[in-house]
Amino acid sequence: MDITKRPRRLRVSAPVRELARETRVSEKSLIFPLFITEGSGVRREISSMPGQYHYSADTVGAAVADCVDAGVGKFLLFGLPERKDELGSGAWAEDGAVQLALRALRRDFPDALLISDVCLCEYTSHGHCGVVENGAVKNDKTLELLTKTAISHALAGADIVAPSDMMDFRVGAIRAGLDATGLTDTLILSYAVKYASGFYGPFREAAQSAPAFGDRRAYQMDYHNAREALREAALDEDEGADMLMVKPAMSYLDVIAAVRARTNLPLAAYSVSGEYAMIKSAAAAGLIDEYAVMCETAIGVYRAGADMLISYFAPEIARAIRKGDIG
Ligand code: PBG
Repeated sequence: MDITKRPRRLRVSAPVRELARETRVSEKSLIFPLFITEGSGVRREISSMPGQYHYSADTVGAAVADCVDAGVGKFLLFGLPERKDELGSGAWAEDGAVQLALRALRRDFPDALLISDVCLCEYTSHGHCGVVENGAVKNDKTLELLTKTAISHALAGADIVAPSDMMDFRVGAIRAGLDATGLTDTLILSYAVKYASGFYGPFREAAQSAPAFGDRRAYQMDYHNAREALREAALDEDEGADMLMVKPAMSYLDVIAAVRARTNLPLAAYSVSGEYAMIKSAAAAGLIDEYAVMCETAIGVYRAGADMLISYFAPEIARAIRKGDIG
């Protein structure tokens, strides 16, 4: 081989590496999850997710202001009610935690993008994502309650509602309900491809939403399947979803790439609580460098084809982008 004809590497210097980068990311594509609880004056660290907090509607503004400072202005809100019941009625309560927080943030941060998670599992006494009868989740009866919840979030100020329950036809039902209420500008970010995953463990502790019996495999997806993800994505697209999501992220990069290749809708990936907790705990044990692994895993998700990333590290990722370490 002629040594003068060897292929040149594109990594010889920092400016060349910057120039030749295939994956560009911006803090504008980051979404930060917030856990809202009832009551006032609450800012309580979540034991399963070090560095993440439960906030009440009157304290969440400070956390939002910090994020905005770091360059993150998009938020995904979860609610934690004081009392749970069989149907999950706290989900659509006028004075529910999420509704109060949405109103407060809408007032104080007019430029923030507010997304609300629409599901019943945080609100039901049995911890399932829908109406339970004879030990099974009833799909069609659940649709009505999800629709009520989505409408109540939109009326309280959500720009986007994000159904995460995985019932069949919930995007269609929610779209029809929003439109009938005149909420035609409210968008739907569908958790279209959501696997039954062990990575939700820390979240379920945070939301106290572990199912009291059984598991979620009857409605969340089987992680052996990737083609099924394409069917789920196509169905939600047909029903009127404006954006799609794949969740979790790290073990599903192939699925992100496959969905990206099939849809022209904006695609989000959710780097979930277990992904966060693993990095945090391995770093705390001195086994990995938290900052390095946070940067690498975030870029991996974008490289796979995601347009947006929902991450508990969102403000730190934004700072890494601003510093020029990634992006
Ligand atoms: C509600 C919901 C869950 C998550 C987001 N929405 C929990 C679940 O399905 O059990 C998980 C988020 C995370 O783990 O970070 N259905």
